[in-house]
Amino acid sequence: MTTTTALSQDELKTLVGRAALEYVLPGGIVGVGTGSTVDRFIDALAEIKDQIVGAVSSSVASTRRLQALGIAVFDANEVESLPVYIDGADEIDGNGHMLKGGGAALTREKIVAALASRFVCIADASKRVPTLGRFPLPVEVIPMAEKHIARRFAAKGGQASLRLVGGQPLLTDNGQHILDVRGLWITDPLAFESEINQWPGVVTAGVFAQHKASVCLLGTAQGVKTLTYPSS
Ligand code: 5RP
Repeated sequence: MTTTTALSQDELKTLVGRAALEYVLPGGIVGVGTGSTVDRFIDALAEIKDQIVGAVSSSVASTRRLQALGIAVFDANEVESLPVYIDGADEIDGNGHMLKGGGAALTREKIVAALASRFVCIADASKRVPTLGRFPLPVEVIPMAEKHIARRFAAKGGQASLRLVGGQPLLTDNGQHILDVRGLWITDPLAFESEINQWPGVVTAGVFAQHKASVCLLGTAQGVKTLTYPSS
């Protein structure tokens, strides 16, 4: 009799983090995202650090981890483009559109994604959804606009709450605040992202539709599934 043991969410993250090494070009600079899945990728990247020039990082936390493992980190302004950006997601739909920002790094993540030719999303199977919106939508905002922006979301049926840490507003790496918006189903991510990004005081909405995934390495009970998405 053979028995199979289901992999834990943590093991799935390790699996996809390692699988992403296949997309790292030798001799190149790789865009690196933020989060617990990316941490597994960074650990794997350290094993091939002699084969790459370095990384452009999307957060202070990832920069610290990369540097602690001996990987050179370049400022985004030092590169014109990147072959690939590797990052996790809070949700990903069937077209490669994502919700991101659970780790509050969404603005820098979008900047590094914009530099990259390919976005490789690494995620465990729990992140795959038919429609974005079960996870509260993170929105980075300028503090003086947060009440106004919360009212605009309320008019759309969303409930926005200020993200707190230890009872105080969380400060992003850019010194701004995060609103988490519940109760919205995002059926047209491209249109939604464009609309919200134009509201005064919004730094970045955590919908990644313009910079969606090209590939998703999804950790499942059957192993890593590679999902590819045509560009829109
Ligand atoms: C950080 C992000 C992360 O990619 C997202 O929150 C997923 O994180 P994890 O891999 O820890 O589940 O967008 O801002």
